[in-house]
Amino acid sequence: MSNEPIIVIKNLNHYYGKGQLRKQILFDISLKIYPGEIVIMSGPSGSGKTTLLTLIGGLRSVQEGSLQILGHELSKASNRLLENVRKQIGFIFQAHNLLGSLTANQNVQMSLVLNDAIAMEEAQERSQAILEQVGLQKRIHSYPHQLSGGQKQRVAIARALVNRPKLILADEPTAALDKASGRDVVELMQKLAKQQNCTILLVTHDNRILDIADRIVHLEDGRLASPTEQAILDIESTTTSLVKAKKEELSRTLEELTIPQFLSLLQKLKEEFEQVLQAMNILSEQMLKANIEEVIRALAWKIAQIMAADRATIFVVDREKNQLWSKVSRSENEEAVEIFLPMNASISGYVATTGESVNITDVQQNPQFYREIDRATGYHTCNILCLPMFNSKNQVFAVVVLTNKLGGSSFDTNDERLLRELTAPLGVILEGTLSVLQQ
Ligand SMILES: Nc1ncnc2c1ncn2[C@@H]1O[C@H](COP(=O)(O)OP(=O)(O)OP(=O)(O)O)[C@@H](O)[C@H]1O
Ligand SMILES: [Mg+2]
Repeated sequence: MSNEPIIVIKNLNHYYGKGQLRKQILFDISLKIYPGEIVIMSGPSGSGKTTLLTLIGGLRSVQEGSLQILGHELSKASNRLLENVRKQIGFIFQAHNLLGSLTANQNVQMSLVLNDAIAMEEAQERSQAILEQVGLQKRIHSYPHQLSGGQKQRVAIARALVNRPKLILADEPTAALDKASGRDVVELMQKLAKQQNCTILLVTHDNRILDIADRIVHLEDGRLASPTEQAILDIESTTTSLVKAKKEELSRTLEELTIPQFLSLLQKLKEEFEQVLQAMNILSEQMLKANIEEVIRALAWKIAQIMAADRATIFVVDREKNQLWSKVSRSENEEAVEIFLPMNASISGYVATTGESVNITDVQQNPQFYREIDRATGYHTCNILCLPMFNSKNQVFAVVVLTNKLGGSSFDTNDERLLRELTAPLGVILEGTLSVLQQ
């Protein structure tokens, strides 16, 4: 984003209390936020998130440092300027602060009525329209006490957005909601904000919604995370968005990568997965579960492309059931079928048991070949290159199988070397993924 930032914070400090009791809460905060960005601010309780948000919103005076919002310097600003800035911001708080004696419609209109430039009639129309957009067309005339937590939160969103603000500040907007309605609420904010090209700064403890952010900033003991720590957080959101990408987009992105690019992507993914899974449990599990199969298949497909193989399949070892498992699809659009291989009567089983790699030029002549797999998939396997994938305990936990080298030849030692290089980082990704899936 090349535009001017909408929020520019420089060396901001903030204190509560006076004299002996004076205590520093924010330390040397510097931060820029750009138009249209959705930024999530995370951090432990008491780290200063609400304090920073209220400073940005002009709800508290700046004590030290500089804070520019929508082009206005708030340090030493007059009350009038503060008020003017506040009017351009949509606020959504955890306690949604709806007025109990007003209906949903009237609550939303309130924020328009405060705006002199808008006539009553237009206020009516706009308020009704935005309530419809948040799915409350049937609740327009309900009072807050007649609404559920999620519905009240949606009224609060409607109220914040009806003025078409350039900036929305939200403090724990999903805290009072269950998983599903929390998700609905942020997705709604995201959708409406994108429509209006509005910036969102959202404070949350809720790890499950981090993936809606373009960026995550982390506050700890009144300090923003260091650039290195921040880089880790950014990487996490990259992983998240890769995992979240639609299957077609993913395939398309991967297709364009050269081998070195793909290797470095795998390497990066590997590091990300290590960090995500070991250091911080920040990736939404639900989302992972829903999409990881696609990611694994897309990665396998890319490996096939690089290796000039007709197909690459990753089989996961299930020692309890003494078999290997995978999902195989004949083409991009076809529904995948589940395939099981017996551990003691298949080539992949042999690889899983011994940890050796296997390269067979004429599979049909091989007594270990599990013929059932061709029958089940309608495929004809000619040659096969099969490599073990080791987990961190040095056990084979998966087997990658390349079948039918394109161009009529079979796989050679160069192929084996390249595949080994590709599977090493993939092993870490897959192991991490499986550990999440099995939780
Ligand atoms: N008005 C106040 N007067 C004195 N101290 C305050 C005041 N408001 C907040 N604090 C203190 O400042 C620190 C930061 O508070 P703040 O509300 O900004 O944290 P937070 O990150 O929003 O926490 P939470 O996640 O629990 O909402 C806390 O130690 C809090 O006790
Ligand atoms: Mg707070």
